[in-house]
Amino acid sequence: MTMSKPCGVRIAGVGSAVPDKRLTNADLASMVDTSDEWIVQRTGIKERRIIDRDAGESQCWLATESLRRALDDASMDAKDLDLIIHASVSSEMTCPSNACRVADNLDAGTTGAFDLIAACCGYVYSMNVADSLIRSGRHQAIGVIGCDAMSTLIDYTDRGVSILFGDAAGAAVLTRDEDPNRGCVYQVMEGDGRGWPSLFIPRNERDVPSGVSAPPTQLGCLRMDGREVYKFAVNKFREVIEDALSATGLSVDDVAQFVCHQSNMRIIESAKAKIGLPDEKVYVNIDRYGNSSSGSVGLCVDQLWKAGKINSGDTIIMVAFGGGMTWSSSVWNV
Ligand code: COA
Repeated sequence: MTMSKPCGVRIAGVGSAVPDKRLTNADLASMVDTSDEWIVQRTGIKERRIIDRDAGESQCWLATESLRRALDDASMDAKDLDLIIHASVSSEMTCPSNACRVADNLDAGTTGAFDLIAACCGYVYSMNVADSLIRSGRHQAIGVIGCDAMSTLIDYTDRGVSILFGDAAGAAVLTRDEDPNRGCVYQVMEGDGRGWPSLFIPRNERDVPSGVSAPPTQLGCLRMDGREVYKFAVNKFREVIEDALSATGLSVDDVAQFVCHQSNMRIIESAKAKIGLPDEKVYVNIDRYGNSSSGSVGLCVDQLWKAGKINSGDTIIMVAFGGGMTWSSSVWNV
């Protein structure tokens, strides 16, 4: 495809999917030495959703359902897409990408498809990449999915990790728009690889760096130094939001919603208090879904969209941080 005149990007539709099965704090308290009171006080989480593998549910199924719903919302068919970007740390296989499997599930025919790994930043990174590809003129319609089934990566004997995570997917269908001011008007995709030992999923014992302070868990399960991640996140979250506001010249009043990665209620509350963000502009669903990694921001966008709190003409700021360490923002004129 040849390069074309400047264009913008439209969010043509959004969707999300969560499993029906609930994992409550009481359930976890029956598995490890913890309590509802401790979890709510330290994280704000009351329950999370997890896939039921015995019922045939999978990470790929969640991803597929979210994009199916986004396509329905956009009144489009999967064959209209020329690219699918699927962000996850919990894909069943590395080959093929789950983007290809979603394309097959939705009968998309021939379409570009790849997976992107940026941990909890996956959805925001993918929205940034998709916006840039459409603006470049190389793609016209892209399906973006952020999806994680973190329950497949959790050692449920590790109380420092198991309490935080849940399974969810959020998707968006992005299309070329004639108005260049529509779409992503500012974006950040950054990271500091030196921080990777704070959060990782080792396949082999040799993947574990020497001197790592996170407790040992089963191979294939997430290891996390919660205190270290907390210290990093509580500052970085505020910095990323402040940077997005100052770089765009937007005030808090100009922004309809700050759509934040749902990592820990205390981290979100701290950023809100330091920047002075009003409650009604910072959506929180961590109490019901926990931290769903790549799924989290897309799930929030869908719920806000369906509730009429994100509308055409609004400006929104999406922000996330995660393993890597990575951090990201995306400012959109919807
Ligand atoms: N229930 C009860 N007690 C627990 C517990 C649990 N689920 N998990 C840890 N504890 C205990 C610890 O063993 C420790 O006990 P000690 O003082 O006797 O040693 C005590 O509680 C405090 O542990 P600490 O790890 O300092 O707690 P915390 O206040 O930092 O909260 C997290 C732990 C994981 C909730 C918090 O660090 C966090 O949210 N970090 C960020 C994680 C994150 O966002 N990750 C995703 C990045 S995208």
